[in-house]
Amino acid sequence: MSRSSSGRAPAVAPLPFSQPIYVTRPLLPSLEDFGTRLAPIWGAAWLTNFGQQHRTLEQRLARHLDVPHVALYANGTMALISALRVLGLRGSVITTPFTFPATVHALSMCGLEPVFCDIDPVTLTIDPAQLQQLVGPQTTGVLGVHVFGQPCDVDAIGRLAAARDLKVIYDAAHAFDTRIDGRSLATSGDCTMLSFHATKLFNTAEGGALTFTDPALERELYLDRNFGILSEDEVVTSGVNGKLSELHAALGLANLDALDDERRARERVRERYLHGLSDLDGLRIVVPGKPVTDSLQYMPVLIDAEAFGATRDAVYDGLRAMNVFARKYFRPLCSDYPHYRHLPSADAQALPVAHMIAEQILCLPFHGGLTDGEVDTICQMVCWLGGAGAA
Ligand SMILES: Cc1ncc(COP(=O)(O)O)c(C=O)c1O
Repeated sequence: MSRSSSGRAPAVAPLPFSQPIYVTRPLLPSLEDFGTRLAPIWGAAWLTNFGQQHRTLEQRLARHLDVPHVALYANGTMALISALRVLGLRGSVITTPFTFPATVHALSMCGLEPVFCDIDPVTLTIDPAQLQQLVGPQTTGVLGVHVFGQPCDVDAIGRLAAARDLKVIYDAAHAFDTRIDGRSLATSGDCTMLSFHATKLFNTAEGGALTFTDPALERELYLDRNFGILSEDEVVTSGVNGKLSELHAALGLANLDALDDERRARERVRERYLHGLSDLDGLRIVVPGKPVTDSLQYMPVLIDAEAFGATRDAVYDGLRAMNVFARKYFRPLCSDYPHYRHLPSADAQALPVAHMIAEQILCLPFHGGLTDGEVDTICQMVCWLGGAGAA
């Protein structure tokens, strides 16, 4: 049985939860607070098309994230596609296989070839050394992912981009308000995408944004998510409907007010997990340390089957049997999807770290509504499964 050096392994199997415990629970404001935010929308009878709530949320997010420009979108995927289009990427773009499908699908939707780069075993983000070797004549950009809120090596990627004239986009769906030494990560690269999906710490149910520093992008991004319409008489480019509605923006404004309380609650849950799971043989907790702020979105652990005494899949199945629904983010790797695995860069031999991590990763339930008792029981279940219980 797997145990910590302090010998915390339970002597008997913990009892299953009577109600399911899911990997996350969306942050919701009180209905009353949401109603207050909805009232001006009803008053103005203005539901979408860059209304007052949309403008207010953009301004508040720009202040909150410490960035000069924020463009809201209907979702993060659309924001990513828009960034790729407006930055004029062509040919191939280097990215990570260890991500949510949307990252790589955005490239293929724009007619770009994804080139998969292996990941760093510590941060699980794109490996800057391999990245450098992958840049070829067709490469026009890098799409990095700050997975689980762990920042990519933005300095190394920035230097490479400057030397090889590449555009850099970051998928920061997991890294809302992440800072390095106080510096906002959302100012890195040419554009940073944020997802405000219900599963994210800050959410608008569905929604997303791009943050950027170049003021010239503002007009282009506006046109790209508004059908290319400049005025009643002018459609100046092609574009889609990528706008965030007033209702979603109002939910975002109410959730921004509720964010500090949720962060505090998640900090408590994080501490509890760290206490319950640290020092376990064969289990590594993937949480950024100083000087990076914790984005408090996931509770990822890596399970080394041999040292832990059980495979990741055995722990996943065992937790399910006890009514705990962890998730294997991200398995399968994007490079193994049927429509990408023919690519030369998808060869598993060139992506050894990503393949190892995909077999070890498990995201445990994480949100501010978990009680100390629930977290302690989940930790005991994990310890129990690391031995006789999972055998
Ligand atoms: C890493 C990553 N990229 C992109 C997305 C897509 O964002 P959205 O669901 O807002 O389109 C997600 C969503 O879960 C994600 O986790």
